[in-house]
Amino acid sequence: MEPKYKRVIIKLSGEALAGSAGHGIDTPTVESICKQIKEVFDLGVEIAIVVGGGNFWRGRSGEGMDKSTADYMGMLATCINALGLQDVLEEMGVPVRVQTAIEMKQIAEPYIRRKAIRHLEKRRIVIFASGTGNPFFTTDTTAALRAAEIDAEIILLAKSIDAVYDSDPLVNPDAKKYTELSYIDVLNKGLKVMDSTATSLCMDNHIPILVFGLNEPKNILRAVMGEKIGTIIQE
Ligand code: GTP
Repeated sequence: MEPKYKRVIIKLSGEALAGSAGHGIDTPTVESICKQIKEVFDLGVEIAIVVGGGNFWRGRSGEGMDKSTADYMGMLATCINALGLQDVLEEMGVPVRVQTAIEMKQIAEPYIRRKAIRHLEKRRIVIFASGTGNPFFTTDTTAALRAAEIDAEIILLAKSIDAVYDSDPLVNPDAKKYTELSYIDVLNKGLKVMDSTATSLCMDNHIPILVFGLNEPKNILRAVMGEKIGTIIQE
C-alpha cells in the first residue's frame, strides 16, 4: 500500500511530549512519538513538524504579563522541544534539520523556505521552531502557514483527544463526535480545534486538517495511509 500523502506537516503540541507528568519532556513518550514518525518517514513521506511549547510555557501562562513577552517565552519553549525531538529522531537514524523563525544561529538554522523544501527533498525531517516568530500567533497558525509555504498536502493535527466533538467528551458523556467538518463549520460553531486564524489560513489555502489522537500507537501511520480516523476538516 502506498501512502496517500507525499508531503505532510505533523503538528505536535508541547503537552504531547510531556506524557503523564504533564510538564517538561518525558523521554519514553517522545521516543514512542518519534518511532511512529520514523515509520512514516521510512515509507518515503516528506515530513515537516511544527511543535508547540505548552509543556514548558504557554502564552497564557503569563497572566498579568505583557502578552508579547509571554508569547516570546512560548516561542523559546518550542525551540527546546524542537531540539529534543531532533535528538531522539537522529538517535533513531532519521536525519533532521531544525529551522527557527527567530534567529539563534548557534542553536539552529534560520527558517528559509527554499532550504526547508530542499531538506525535505533530500530526505530529512524539518522541524519548525519558534512558531511564526511573531507574538499573537499560535503554533497551529504556524502549521497552517508553513503548510501553505512548503505545499504540504495535509496538516496532521495530533491531539490528546481522538477527534473533534461538539462539546468536551470528558465533561459531557453525550458529546457528539464529528468525522467530517468544513472550515466554515469549525468557525461558525466556535469549535476549539484550532484558533480562527489558523482555520482561516487553511480555508483560504485549501489545506485539509486531520485531527486525531496520538494515544493510539499506529495513528500517524494510519493517517498518512488515508485511513478514516479522527475528524477531517476540509472544504
Ligand atoms: P545541504 O547543503 O543540502 O547538504 O544541507 P545540510 O543541512 O547538510 O548542509 P549545511 O552545510 O547547510 O548544514 C550542515 C549542518 O549545520 C546541519 O546540521 C545544519 O542543521 C547545520 N546548520 C546549517 N546552518 C546553520 C545555522 O545557521 N546555525 C546552526 N546552528 N546550524 C546550522
